[in-house]
Amino acid sequence: DVMADIMGISNLRDRVKEKLGIKKVILVPGSCEENETLLRDVARDGAEYFLSILKDGNTVAITGGTTMLEFANAVKTDKKYENTLVIPARGSMGTEVETQSNSIVAKLGRRIHSDFELLHIPDELDKSAMKTLTRVPEIKNTLDHISETDILVFSIGRADVMLERRNLSEEQKEEILKNHAVGEAFGHYFDKEGNVVYKINTVGIDFDTFRKIKESILIFAGDEKVEAFMAVAETNKNLVLVTDEQSAHHILGQ
Ligand code: G3H
Repeated sequence: DVMADIMGISNLRDRVKEKLGIKKVILVPGSCEENETLLRDVARDGAEYFLSILKDGNTVAITGGTTMLEFANAVKTDKKYENTLVIPARGSMGTEVETQSNSIVAKLGRRIHSDFELLHIPDELDKSAMKTLTRVPEIKNTLDHISETDILVFSIGRADVMLERRNLSEEQKEEILKNHAVGEAFGHYFDKEGNVVYKINTVGIDFDTFRKIKESILIFAGDEKVEAFMAVAETNKNLVLVTDEQSAHHILGQ
């Protein structure tokens, strides 16, 4: 019965919002186990919400990954956001071209017909090289824009999964796991309580900036990410969560 389903979802949404104490929750019916393309639906709802709050002139920061790629692909509008700027939330990470934040920035910028800036910074430079790079005017300019972010769109990952994907050294992996990291977002690793236990040495959004941003949209699909999500949700109540129904049930069960 369609009516009962809708009632069920809106009740679930309200309970999740109340449990987490965050700004807003958007849920897509279904579970990722049963529906392989659910990530696309979740990304689409995230894209719809994003367009509903986006104002021309906003600075939009976005991270990398498959969720953000689906998000950018789902953004569709004829409206031209000529005074809007899209930027990566952090320096470039990894070697996967399609899913790195620079590629997603370019894609999103084209889809909303706005300006965009890229940030070409390798991970894990030593301190003095990083300092020199951040003085390059073009890079400094983008870093300044990041600190003025109006809307952040990002996803989270499981710490154990992200460790492997980011090609970290054995020592780094050991340190991160020893400190009980469960989740990762924008190069920060969080333990269950939401403490930052490790930070990738690159530039871009830091934790204080993250907590000051007015509009933060966190999109994820799949209940294997719930623990990682809960860690990040501990740190910032000013979040709009877009996820699937199954994950919402898991959030309530945590
Ligand atoms: O920080 C974590 C990543 O953004 C998650 O990447 O969307 O490919 O799972 P994913």
